[in-house]
Amino acid sequence: MTYPTVQELYDLHGQVAIVTGGARNLGLQIAEALAEVGAAVVVTARSKDAAVTAAHQLAKAKGVRTLGLELEITEEAAWSALVQKVEDEFGKIDILVNNAGGRDARPAAPDPNIPLDVPFLEARSPEEWRRLVDVNLTSVFLGCRAVVPAMKRNGRGKIVNIASTDGMLGRDLELYNGSGQSASVPDYLASKAGVINLTRGIAVVLAPYDIYVNCLSPAGFQRSQPPAFIEKYSKMFPLKRMGRDGIDLKGPIVLLCSAASDFMVGHNLVVDGGFTAW
Ligand SMILES: NC(=O)c1ccc[n+]([C@@H]2O[C@H](COP(=O)([O-])OP(=O)(O)OC[C@H]3O[C@@H](n4cnc5c(N)ncnc54)[C@H](O)[C@@H]3O)[C@@H](O)[C@H]2O)c1
Repeated sequence: MTYPTVQELYDLHGQVAIVTGGARNLGLQIAEALAEVGAAVVVTARSKDAAVTAAHQLAKAKGVRTLGLELEITEEAAWSALVQKVEDEFGKIDILVNNAGGRDARPAAPDPNIPLDVPFLEARSPEEWRRLVDVNLTSVFLGCRAVVPAMKRNGRGKIVNIASTDGMLGRDLELYNGSGQSASVPDYLASKAGVINLTRGIAVVLAPYDIYVNCLSPAGFQRSQPPAFIEKYSKMFPLKRMGRDGIDLKGPIVLLCSAASDFMVGHNLVVDGGFTAW
């Protein structure tokens, strides 16, 4: 009996992947990583122009087939249209990464006269709550629901849902005090926690079809946050640093999208520099 090599297990040549929110930041890095191991990649974004531009640049840089498509992840009809277009173009769907989402974290100093727990809970509007749960959780349900018939036809599939360490822990709001960064919100924590257990629920149901559903929970990646926030937050990691864009997500995402993870079902792969380990 000959066994596959490690290179063969991680190889994605001949496979077709969809990455939502793939035109920037973590989504783009995920798309790049999958392309580097050979996958054809469909990049989606809310703006068609952004998706097409990112797909074009990806094809040029990595030498794989790509396609840029518009997708509003909260709309069921938009998902059906996406699946149809990808099957028309590539004939199948092997991989879906539900990456798009977030909480509009941005530089914004909290009002020093208002305790942080007030905007977190008492002043958080039910409309904002519903919107964010829709963006981060309902979208994952819609995405899985839309691609599974194609994956069943294909006889196999991999779905990776991007959750967060914010779906695993409460947040010490003190982090945001004087940091210049807008504080976390309860709907983000709740929706990412929902993604983790939605993943388990869907995973056990789809495993008999050779459709592997897992999730990946990053902690914060360093980007253009205010320096005071980066300094405070970095101290909360055993590694004493935040995630590195372009590096720290690549290996874990390829693992979950490839045959290298064929004994992983409903797993929450935590990529957090030890943030949740102490
Ligand atoms: N950046 C981090 O440190 C971090 C940490 C943990 C988890 N995450 C998660 O990783 C994912 C990517 O994070 P990022 O930092 O690259 O975020 P980002 O804000 O840079 O990108 C998110 C993408 O999702 C898209 N998006 C948002 N709402 C959408 C909608 N309704 N329809 C279609 N597209 C929509 C945005 O347009 C964007 O392209 C998110 O799910 C986020 O919650 C990020």
